[in-house]
Amino acid sequence: MDANLARLQSVSPPEGESFADCLLRGLGKTPKEIACKYFYDEAGSRLFDAICGLPEYYQTRTEIALLTRHAGEIAALMGPHVEIVEFGAGSLRKVRILLDAAHAPRAYTPLDISGDYLQTVVRSLAADYPTLMLRPLVGDFTQSLEIPALSGPGLNQGSNTPRRAGFFPGSTIGNFKPDAAMALLRAMRASLNGGGLLIGVDLVKDPVRLHAAYNDAAGVTALFNKNLLARANRELGADFDPDGFAHYAPYNAAAHRIEMYLVSLRRQSVTLCGRQVEFAAGEPVHTEDSHKYTIESFREMACRAGFNPRAVWADEERLFAVHWLESR
Ligand code: AVJ
Repeated sequence: MDANLARLQSVSPPEGESFADCLLRGLGKTPKEIACKYFYDEAGSRLFDAICGLPEYYQTRTEIALLTRHAGEIAALMGPHVEIVEFGAGSLRKVRILLDAAHAPRAYTPLDISGDYLQTVVRSLAADYPTLMLRPLVGDFTQSLEIPALSGPGLNQGSNTPRRAGFFPGSTIGNFKPDAAMALLRAMRASLNGGGLLIGVDLVKDPVRLHAAYNDAAGVTALFNKNLLARANRELGADFDPDGFAHYAPYNAAAHRIEMYLVSLRRQSVTLCGRQVEFAAGEPVHTEDSHKYTIESFREMACRAGFNPRAVWADEERLFAVHWLESR
């Protein structure tokens, strides 16, 4: 094992609810729902990567451009010898921008529910950053955010603990309802030991533009949504007919969010874990919310979560924002 690569460590117990439990519980409710975290099995993660490259999905390329353009300023705000803590190991492209700009970064600590994915991430960084300590932590950051103090060569507890900087890109915060988003920001702040948080947030904008981003012409987002059903068939032997459901993703302008649904196109019955689940014609299954914020509404929420919003960068078209929040 590479010298700078810490052993994979578990910081929270494996999730309580399985995909099967989530489906049985969520499809037993009225209205029906499936939690969006189950999008991301291997096939779903590949589909999400494809979404990130779509012409309609401006988020990823806009955020990468912002990080690249302002990397120097961001590095200065983070300060030298920082430990970058990423909540959910996302795209390596984004964190590499930070690592390349940071002044002698001490450690990269990605926190993710997939140990396999974390191993891939840190293995591919190890060669390029030989002096960076890589500390993959397996855990669900929505459940537990206890991040142990860094230890290792040249570090004795307390005296030499590096300052932390949190990183939460991609507007993943938008998946949480505003109350839950606030609670998550609070928990992140507590886990950063006084360090700041760099967070990407999709902006409120023309609803036509938002609608297009979640209803792409090539139909990749529809496949991503229907992957929940395909996954249930693959993993649990369910007999969903993905063509029996429509991808439906309207923008709810009053609530500032895209809502995603799978809508049953006919009356049908599906076998799932030995049980029958009935769908009425036109019945929706809620699969995701993607909340949008203005720069001001996000800064306000960050304040209420105990942060001082310090810097914010947006593109000329005001499509996407990257905020630097300091602990108060
Ligand atoms: C990864 C949650 C930020 O909400 O834009 C993309 C997920 N869903 N297309 C988003 C998603 C449909 C994405 N996030």
